[in-house]
Amino acid sequence: MNEKARIAVFASGSGSNFEALENACREGELDAEIVLVMTDKPASFVVERARLTDIRVVALEPKAFPSKQAYEEALLGILREEDVEWIALAGYMRLIGPTLLAAYPSRIVNIHPSLLPSFTGKDAIGQAIAHGVKVTGVTVHLVDAGMDTGPILAQVAVPVVEGDAEKTAQAIQRIEHVIYKETLQKLILTNGGVHS
Ligand code: GRF
Repeated sequence: MNEKARIAVFASGSGSNFEALENACREGELDAEIVLVMTDKPASFVVERARLTDIRVVALEPKAFPSKQAYEEALLGILREEDVEWIALAGYMRLIGPTLLAAYPSRIVNIHPSLLPSFTGKDAIGQAIAHGVKVTGVTVHLVDAGMDTGPILAQVAVPVVEGDAEKTAQAIQRIEHVIYKETLQKLILTNGGVHS
């Protein structure tokens, strides 16, 4: 019963959230083990970060597959090899399709740099600044078929640094690196056990 939850992190970008989760696992703040890092972008910096660890890194490009279903079936095969129980999206820039959603019901989590339902999709921080909002934030939510639409698990508000996307992004990332590990820890504690 003391087995750690097995997490796959999906990422397409710099991987700072992956790194924060990996630190949390190592330091015992998150009762989990990241057993796989999957990226759809082989050149992304997350690959370099992950290669500094012992974690298996897989780069699978959707364009190498005839369909999204075939892509996700290939992913599923790898997830099953590693007995993955939870998928944490961390800057993964693709919609999850029916194949993975059916295999991991309520077991796929995403972090998004806005107070959802505001500013879904790409460049949420740029959207917030363009709209002139004074407060934006971070949301952790379960993933469904929509874009950033699933049930919300946690939110933290972050003030916008007026006109400065860079500083606002830095403030958001500081919060992300705390809220993601905390939310995953709560989720894992209340929903233990291996998916069937
Ligand atoms: C984060 O801001 C996350 O909220 C969004 O993509 C960004 C990923 O950053 N979904 P990183 O690659 O983890 O540094």
